[in-house]
Amino acid sequence: MSTETFTPIDAAFDDLLEIDASTADLLFREARTVHAFEDEAVPDEKIQAAYDLVRWGPTAMNTVPLRLLVVRDPEARARLVEHMADGNKAKTLAAPLTIVAAADTNFHEFLPVLAPHMEGAKENFEAAGEETRAGMSRTSALIQVGYFIVGLRAAGLHVGPMGGFDAAGIDAEFFGENGWKSLVVINVGTPAGEGATYPRQTRLTFEQASQTL
Ligand SMILES: Cc1cc2nc3c(=O)[nH]c(=O)nc-3n(C[C@H](O)[C@H](O)[C@H](O)COP(=O)(O)O)c2cc1C
Repeated sequence: MSTETFTPIDAAFDDLLEIDASTADLLFREARTVHAFEDEAVPDEKIQAAYDLVRWGPTAMNTVPLRLLVVRDPEARARLVEHMADGNKAKTLAAPLTIVAAADTNFHEFLPVLAPHMEGAKENFEAAGEETRAGMSRTSALIQVGYFIVGLRAAGLHVGPMGGFDAAGIDAEFFGENGWKSLVVINVGTPAGEGATYPRQTRLTFEQASQTL
């Protein structure tokens, strides 16, 4: 299999999509990972609008385990940055808003509401223990992080997701009481213009990324 193909962005399949080309560009093709943002406040309502859209994405047993810590307050932002990898500290401190996306290991508390048809689900997950719930919530919450990134773009925002941080440190700092486990830290805002993005790298083609049996 070739590992050398650089595939330019094109519209070869646009006719097969149910969304228009400008929406495809906004959500995926022209959306970039942003490393430097304008000094411009991000309204809470935009974050809420993004969440309100993506909460409908599927999760295992409708557990909906993604939790969001929206870090706006300067003092809280400084505490968060302490736990970021060195290469992520300055841009996180400078971003107008940062969201810690986390998985709730106590997601089962909501199952009587989220999955009322599953009798005893809450009690069963209580008995299964935190380790089992942590594994289960991590998978669906990570899937929800993907939805959320696209949802933020749908709300006209730009994101810089980061995995480079001390997860145990963030969990101890912010989630000591609620059992949330940090997954991805996401800077959010409007790109600062020149230098806000790194050079675009290619993506795998369908042929490279799939097998059909
Ligand atoms: C889960 C995840 C973790 C990432 N971690 C970091 C990180 O710690 N620091 C960083 O600068 N970029 C990080 N990135 C950004 C990726 O490198 C970037 O999204 C990717 O190269 C695509 O860039 P593009 O959207 O500009 O094409 C991360 C992205 C994701 C989705």
